[in-house]
Amino acid sequence: MKFFVDTAEIADIRELNDLGMVDGVTTNPSLILKSGRDILEVTKEICDIVSGPVSAEVIATEADAMIAEGRKLAAIAPNIAVKLPLTWDGLKACKVLTGEGHMVNVTLCFSANQALIAAKAGATFISPFIGRLDDINLDGMDLIADIRTIYDNYGFETQILAASIRSVNHVLESARIGADVMTAPPEVIRKLAAHPLTDKGLETFLKDAAKAGIKIV
Ligand code: E4P
Repeated sequence: MKFFVDTAEIADIRELNDLGMVDGVTTNPSLILKSGRDILEVTKEICDIVSGPVSAEVIATEADAMIAEGRKLAAIAPNIAVKLPLTWDGLKACKVLTGEGHMVNVTLCFSANQALIAAKAGATFISPFIGRLDDINLDGMDLIADIRTIYDNYGFETQILAASIRSVNHVLESARIGADVMTAPPEVIRKLAAHPLTDKGLETFLKDAAKAGIKIV
């Protein structure tokens, strides 16, 4: 499973990338707002750090304007994936931009039919939003499983990018189902390493090491 980090914070991207945890990055206008940075500048900086796909989202809502914005974003670096909302105009822009050889991440996917039609439009990635479905008492994992089944039934090459991940269980379940990629905030990726029995065990070992007077360097 590929790991994308869902942030525009440079320090987090650097730290996780140095650890080999970053196969790509996803951003959106809310994450750009949080970073306080200019979208073109911060996206370029991210692309200089990370070699995998870096999603940068358009803000236009009409196909021709989305295409123009997508071309401008794609010109930042060869590893840009233009992020387009799952609307009819977004699908039109997806067809054109993928036809020009650009990667496209179709975002804000909340149904299997939306994922099916994005694959038909040639999307490189489809981003089903797990957490936002959970927020309205629907099961985001059912959506990931349905898309996996449908894409496998017909051999669609669009990669399932499990998004809006809020917990380590979302990561585990996405991996079990076979999502190609997951994108999570840095804090969720760090939590994947945590276990209370690891902390408890380490505490005991350190106490015993002190009693034994162990010194290594
Ligand atoms: C994905 O590409 C989105 O940027 C992100 O996962 C949205 O997550 P949220 O629902 O926690 O805002």
